[in-house]
Amino acid sequence: MPSDLFRLDNRNAVVIGAGSGIGRAAAEGLAAQGAKVYCGDVNLATATETARACSGEARQVDITNGQSVHTLLREVAGKPGGLHVVVSTPGVNVRKPILNYTAEEFDKVISVNLKGTLHVLREAGAIMAGQGFGSIIVFSSIRSVTVEPGQGVYAATKAGIVQMVRTLAAELGPAGVRVNAIAPGIVETPLTQQIKSHPEWYQAYAAKTVLGRWARPEEIAGPVAFLASDDHRRSFVRGWRMDRRRREILAAAVSRLGLCQVGQSFRQNQRTVRNRFGRGVLVGPMAHAAATGNE
Ligand SMILES: NC(=O)c1ccc[n+]([C@@H]2O[C@H](COP(=O)([O-])OP(=O)(O)OC[C@H]3O[C@@H](n4cnc5c(N)ncnc54)[C@H](O)[C@@H]3O)[C@@H](O)[C@H]2O)c1
Repeated sequence: MPSDLFRLDNRNAVVIGAGSGIGRAAAEGLAAQGAKVYCGDVNLATATETARACSGEARQVDITNGQSVHTLLREVAGKPGGLHVVVSTPGVNVRKPILNYTAEEFDKVISVNLKGTLHVLREAGAIMAGQGFGSIIVFSSIRSVTVEPGQGVYAATKAGIVQMVRTLAAELGPAGVRVNAIAPGIVETPLTQQIKSHPEWYQAYAAKTVLGRWARPEEIAGPVAFLASDDHRRSFVRGWRMDRRRREILAAAVSRLGLCQVGQSFRQNQRTVRNRFGRGVLVGPMAHAAATGNE
């Protein structure tokens, strides 16, 4: 197996949402693999903190504004080598029953999660299709497949992101562009602070996971680096949502370990993982994100 599986030397990566949580961990993770990271966030102060930590550069960007996304991505595309990786994490949640949702709250969640993600997919996709290479990674959630009271609108946006990703992956695959979504379970970040501040709620979510705990943001940095890197086996990965219920994660897991190829059948991959790790157990940083049923 090559020793540089995840190396991203001489690659330009833009991380939007880099000022906090998973975005910050992703920026630091990509930088650790050698990428030059442009840390974008609507909050320039927190983006600057992340940029300092990963020897990158900070930029202010608002994903609800298509022009703002266009300006940032075009700037980086003009750097030597072009635009290799775009990661977009911004997401908001207004947790309340659908009957109580106001039109303004609906617009707020849709505007960041769905429309904002569309802006990133569209702008990054156009640039990368022109270059003939690139990897786009956006954030869905386990809520794209499971819901509970109070999560309806957020869940709808996260399911919508998956369908946009699948479609764009099919549209741009022939042009050499990879498009994927990561769908974590419950992760300790400011986004989930509301849940953490209620001990019973916090424990209930932890108890639903196979590890009995929440994930830390840095545990999502591995899947980001995996999808950003372009080793020939991983470069076949496109249009996936990484979560526990999909055969793709099994293929991804075994591929990552070099046990077999992504192209193998679900049953072959499932057998390989079960033989090696036991029933219901996945591997690496994906395991927690994959196994939780929350957020
Ligand atoms: N934390 C979890 O448990 C969890 C679980 C599943 C999915 N997710 C998803 O992962 C992603 C990242 O979540 P997180 O927990 O790191 O969130 P977070 O709130 O910690 O960080 C989000 C970052 O995005 C920035 N941002 C917000 N609006 C923006 C905008 N319009 N333009 C640019 N930047 C903006 C914020 O300033 C912040 O720095 C989200 O899409 C979220 O839905 C999170």
